[in-house]
Amino acid sequence: MRGRLNKGGRDTRRRAVRYPPSAGTPERPGGKMNLYELALKRRTIRKFKQEKIPLGTLKKLINAARLAPSGSNLQPWEFIIVEEDSLRERVFPNLAWAGYIAPAGNPSPGERPVAYIILLVNKDIRLEGYERDLGAAAENIMLTALEEGIASCWMGSIKNENLRRIFRLPDNYIIDTVIALGYPGEKSVAEDLPSDKSPRKESIKYYKDKDNVLHVPKRRLEDILHVNKW
Ligand SMILES: Cc1cc2nc3c(=O)[nH]c(=O)nc-3n(C[C@H](O)[C@H](O)[C@H](O)COP(=O)(O)O)c2cc1C
Repeated sequence: MRGRLNKGGRDTRRRAVRYPPSAGTPERPGGKMNLYELALKRRTIRKFKQEKIPLGTLKKLINAARLAPSGSNLQPWEFIIVEEDSLRERVFPNLAWAGYIAPAGNPSPGERPVAYIILLVNKDIRLEGYERDLGAAAENIMLTALEEGIASCWMGSIKNENLRRIFRLPDNYIIDTVIALGYPGEKSVAEDLPSDKSPRKESIKYYKDKDNVLHVPKRRLEDILHVNKW
């Protein structure tokens, strides 16, 4: 068993939260999750059901992205929705999945994302320091997606030059990241890191259990929170 009592007698067993609840929560039975619940429940998913996402829903995600906070309100972003089959097939080989558990995290042909959103930066608007803006836009996309029952994987390990070529991107655009999307085809749960472990090294690595459930260790609230003092 991974859990145990630490020096102070506190139970450090990892508490798992299942993803996603099928019908709301005890507070909202049968209802959609509120924003806090979505933030808690969002987990990276890398295997997807082969069910198309309506284009209107994908556009809704971009609409949430475009209203994200942006430094100096420059809004240096643009977005490409990729949902056409042959284009998806060309994008897929340019992405790297779940480094800690490779190749177990790779989606097989029947599990691949059914859509991608490519996050672009227009260099004429902002040349550097755009990462926070794009991060805020990405989180808006992923949480709005989850409200629609759609899971996501935010991908920074990408073959940038290949993707540029596929989309014939002009020189004044940067590909920031890619978000892979689809209805979830695997389970992932967050669990607390034991307090007495360094958050670095082995302990933060996600892993799959014997039932193929992904476990994602997260630092505990009490280990990262300071109130009115350091
Ligand atoms: C900036 C960024 C880049 C990422 N790049 C990849 C990636 O290239 N491939 C991948 O499989 N996951 C990628 N991830 C997903 C992380 O592995 C994942 O967020 C992390 O393991 C925590 O899991 P969680 O999202 O379920 O909380 C990325 C996440 C972020 C924020």
